[in-house]
Amino acid sequence: MNLTLKIWRQKNANDKGKMVDYPISDVSPDMSFLEMLDVLNESLVEKGEEPVAFDHDCREGICGMCSLYINGEAHGPDRGVTTCQLHMRMFNDGDTIYIEPFRAKAFPVIKDLIVDRGAFDRIQHAGGFISVNTSGNTIDANAIPINKEDADTAFEAATCIGCGACVATCKNSSAMLFVGAKVSQFALLPQGKVEATDRVLNMVKQMDEEGFGNCTNTGACEVECPKGISLEHIARMNREYLTASLKG
Ligand code: SF4
Ligand code: FES
Repeated sequence: MNLTLKIWRQKNANDKGKMVDYPISDVSPDMSFLEMLDVLNESLVEKGEEPVAFDHDCREGICGMCSLYINGEAHGPDRGVTTCQLHMRMFNDGDTIYIEPFRAKAFPVIKDLIVDRGAFDRIQHAGGFISVNTSGNTIDANAIPINKEDADTAFEAATCIGCGACVATCKNSSAMLFVGAKVSQFALLPQGKVEATDRVLNMVKQMDEEGFGNCTNTGACEVECPKGISLEHIARMNREYLTASLKG
């Protein structure tokens, strides 16, 4: 396939940035999107030009590092996949492809297509964990009975990889799907109940301080989430938050 790439180039956080055209030829439909960018970068390096900076790590949909906004969609046109799992067969010969960073006030651009998603880490640090007694008297988690439905729902919430596609997709740049998943993965389990009140209050407080917008129930986040995280987790977080506020 021969394609025209229109890529956001920005030298650093203070640079204004602009879209730059890059024609690319002989792209195999079997390449992943990131492999296609690797080929582009090799050609740029050979020409003595600066390669395009983009985030990636596992390249198998696990780590949540890859984060491109492709033709106006977080992680591109396929469903239930991250950018690293997107294949060039989703595009046609002659296509023009727009490639931009995830855009949100709370995700400032560092360089080209790389944004700083440290805000998610700070939300996690505020309460996205459980404290476990490691004195040697810890109860084996497998010895605590949990009904199947709760275990399955908690597991589904725990599949959130923290990529930020939900934020990039939301017209309000809301992080509610991410935070909802991180609250829900503990809310349904006995291990999570001990710190439940502080967890939801602290995580929501940090989310607001980071400058994310509020949820207006559009549901675009659920559509673009590569892990299919359900809006029901936002509803659960809101219930947890109300209960915690009344206790406080
Ligand atoms: S909820 Fe989905 S889109 Fe949002 S960070 Fe988690 S995996 Fe990514
Ligand atoms: S590089 Fe790890 S999820 Fe894409």
